[in-house]
Amino acid sequence: MEQQFWLDRWEQRQIGFHLPEVNAHLRKHWSALALDAGERVLVPLCGKSKDMLWLHELGHLVTGVELSHIAVQAFFAENALEMNMRGDNVYFSPQARGIRVHQSDFFTLAPEQLGEIRAVYDRAALVALPDQMRKQYVQQLAGLLTSGATVLLVTMDYPQEQMDGPPFNVDGKEVCRLYGEMFDIQLLESLDVLAGNDRLAERGLTRMLEQIWKLTRL
Ligand SMILES: C[S@@+](CC[C@H](N)C(=O)[O-])C[C@H]1O[C@@H](n2cnc3c(N)ncnc32)[C@H](O)[C@@H]1O
Repeated sequence: MEQQFWLDRWEQRQIGFHLPEVNAHLRKHWSALALDAGERVLVPLCGKSKDMLWLHELGHLVTGVELSHIAVQAFFAENALEMNMRGDNVYFSPQARGIRVHQSDFFTLAPEQLGEIRAVYDRAALVALPDQMRKQYVQQLAGLLTSGATVLLVTMDYPQEQMDGPPFNVDGKEVCRLYGEMFDIQLLESLDVLAGNDRLAERGLTRMLEQIWKLTRL
């Protein structure tokens, strides 16, 4: 997806992907990563996700990466956090020490800008990207991680011809294609989210699974 697509979405407030609450999959499965408090978690393509606050409350250092300045500002303002900036477009708050948000293109970040990342939380990041960008995303992510680092990944599996992305269909085969060489892959849960969701059925979808994965950098 072109950067302008996302900047326009924020400008026009078309942000149906944003959840007003902490993601249920995160709450349920985060413990599978067995991450110690004080370790740094990367949240790529973070938007203004409340999930960052939840991870911070667990005692983790949290680094978000987001293209849109509107999203970054909204994250701090809506959570009543003062917003301070370091020279290189990195935002932080004195009240939520340990959370910082890089307002930049994820694909241009170098490992030394982030410090050691022990885990990644990916909800609506990989699936926000069309297939031609996904391999590049995974390569960039792998380059930011050292061996043993883990990823909690949420994907969606549905017939792509029945709905335009984003979010895009990323089925198990695609997860293996993208991560198989550089990560150990474990499926934690597969959930049918079509049943009881009239909105998806009205859009003509006949199948929609949400899948939660634990990936470990080899
Ligand atoms: C579908 S939204 C998901 C946001 C968040 N993960 C959530 O769960 O609410 C994707 C986000 O990625 C941001 N984005 C898209 N391309 C990006 C890039 N190359 N670098 C950083 N952020 C990007 C968009 O501005 C948008 O906020």
